[in-house]
Amino acid sequence: MKILRTQEEIKQYSREMKQAGKTIGLVPTMGALHEGHLTLMRTARQAVDVVIASVFVNPVQFGPNEDFDAYPRQFDEDCAKLEEVGVDAVFHPEPAEMYPEGFCTYVNVEGEFTKKLCGGQRPGHFRGVATVVTKLINLARADKAFFGQKDAQQVCVIRRFVEDLAIPVEINMVPIVREDSGLARSSRNVYLSAEEKKAALVLSRSLNMARAAYQGGSRQVSELKKIIVDEINKEPLAVIDYVEIYSFPALEEIDRVEGESIMAIAVKIGKTRLIDNVILEG
Ligand code: PAJ
Repeated sequence: MKILRTQEEIKQYSREMKQAGKTIGLVPTMGALHEGHLTLMRTARQAVDVVIASVFVNPVQFGPNEDFDAYPRQFDEDCAKLEEVGVDAVFHPEPAEMYPEGFCTYVNVEGEFTKKLCGGQRPGHFRGVATVVTKLINLARADKAFFGQKDAQQVCVIRRFVEDLAIPVEINMVPIVREDSGLARSSRNVYLSAEEKKAALVLSRSLNMARAAYQGGSRQVSELKKIIVDEINKEPLAVIDYVEIYSFPALEEIDRVEGESIMAIAVKIGKTRLIDNVILEG
């Protein structure tokens, strides 16, 4: 597997692959790779000739009081995992390589939907995501890029700017990968103590309860939300950031679940903020 650290290196690599007639798939990550990320890599492996992963903890998408410094970094272990699933090249730049002196252009998706859910809680977050993902797609000359449903709003934002700016790339969304316990895999799970990890099961449990009610015929958003909130509030270590049910992918307010919809939650377990969601097919 090739390790590319500069813009010049990745540009040259993707140029050569393109000249050889290969299709290129990009899987952007911030590293500390787990089964969720690796499922994206395997999906890409099936879909394109050349898979480029990126491992870059993007400073621009973190707020001033967020965990940029503490975010887990383990590049050597990540490389071993990427190699095992057959990734062809990994792009691992320094922040100053991606944001050199003079850098002043950002991609800002302005739709109301970006201000909801994580966009409301983390101002500037999606601007940072959209900017880095645009740059990564350009550098990799990606034909296809792969993202997880785990960050469903991120997929909505990326689909929007790709369409608005006519970027010639296909965006693919891969379902959430969970531990056997139901806990959605996340790089931030390493912050959890054993006790907190148990408490964190309340996220998937509460969503499953609401889904069961939906499958039993319940359509009223207020009713479904109450099931989730009541279950989370039973867990003493859990504090709700948001519990929302919106249409998907537009993320519009709804009173009843009729078409495709998303139940999305963010919950603090101790100091760690976790997110999870379930998409209802409608
Ligand atoms: P990161 O949190 O490292 O996630 C990288 C990709 O892996 C995202 O598309 C995310 O949705 C996906 N992913 C994470 N956990 C998953 C799980 N349990 N199941 C399925 N997919 C999962 O998201 C980011 O990084 C960044 O915002 C990035 C897009 C790289 C831009 O900096």
